[in-house]
Amino acid sequence: MNNQLKRVNPKNIDVISAEWDCLCARRQETIEQGKDISLSFVTSPCILGEIKREHPDSVLDVGCGTGYLTSLLAKRTKRCVGIDMSAESIHIAKQRYGESGASFITTTIEQYRTIEKFDICVANMVFSSDPDWIESICVIRKLLKDSGKLFVMLPHPVLWPKYWGFQEAEWFHYNKEIFIEHNFSVSLVKSMGIATYIHRPLASYINGLLVNGFRLEQVIEPYPIKCTPIEYKYDYPRFLFIKSRRK
Ligand SMILES: C[S@@+](CC[C@H](N)C(=O)[O-])C[C@H]1O[C@@H](n2cnc3c(N)ncnc32)[C@H](O)[C@@H]1O
Repeated sequence: MNNQLKRVNPKNIDVISAEWDCLCARRQETIEQGKDISLSFVTSPCILGEIKREHPDSVLDVGCGTGYLTSLLAKRTKRCVGIDMSAESIHIAKQRYGESGASFITTTIEQYRTIEKFDICVANMVFSSDPDWIESICVIRKLLKDSGKLFVMLPHPVLWPKYWGFQEAEWFHYNKEIFIEHNFSVSLVKSMGIATYIHRPLASYINGLLVNGFRLEQVIEPYPIKCTPIEYKYDYPRFLFIKSRRK
């Protein structure tokens, strides 16, 4: 097992936001160096492919981080807004992708207030960092047009524990919500700083959506779109995409 992983007590949104404030500059560097292979070859292409299929006018990218995916969404839509609770992340997003056509706002999902309604909300790798994810999807539902859709990408709840090697840890129980502190790494860069991964069983995510006003439309276990660097191993799906529609 990766010995930098440990179970911790639940953290609140301010603590997790501060972790992203510390991490985001380093993470943006790795994105720009082309070292976040999962983001550029697996998760973003899957989301962008589905955006192309739906051709929405407006997209809200919740938990947009430093704005890499938001800027790509902006190219394909008339109106694109990225929000994130990490002020540092939004600062970088504005600097780096301010010209992309996307607007960026520092706010938690829960506190985001607007009269605007969106065709699609995207949450790429967000709910596994969000202690209040149910509150977040209730707010997102209100931000969507009547038949608007929510695109959720998650670390695969069933296979992420195997990938990170904590499946066998004595503190790990698949069917519980568990906060796991780790040294944040992406595909080709390790140990960027402290981050918190919140494990929830797959059923929590599915039922959370169903009970809070969404109808499931599609599930994808994405694979990389094209040849990835030799060091990048992807033997089984470690991400999960869930498309749901507002009921
Ligand atoms: C793993 S990063 C993903 C960033 C981006 N979506 C991407 O694909 O690169 C998770 C992001 O979600 C943000 N986040 C988590 N919960 C949030 C919430 N409730 N409101 C706003 N941002 C949130 C964090 O601040 C962090 O920037």
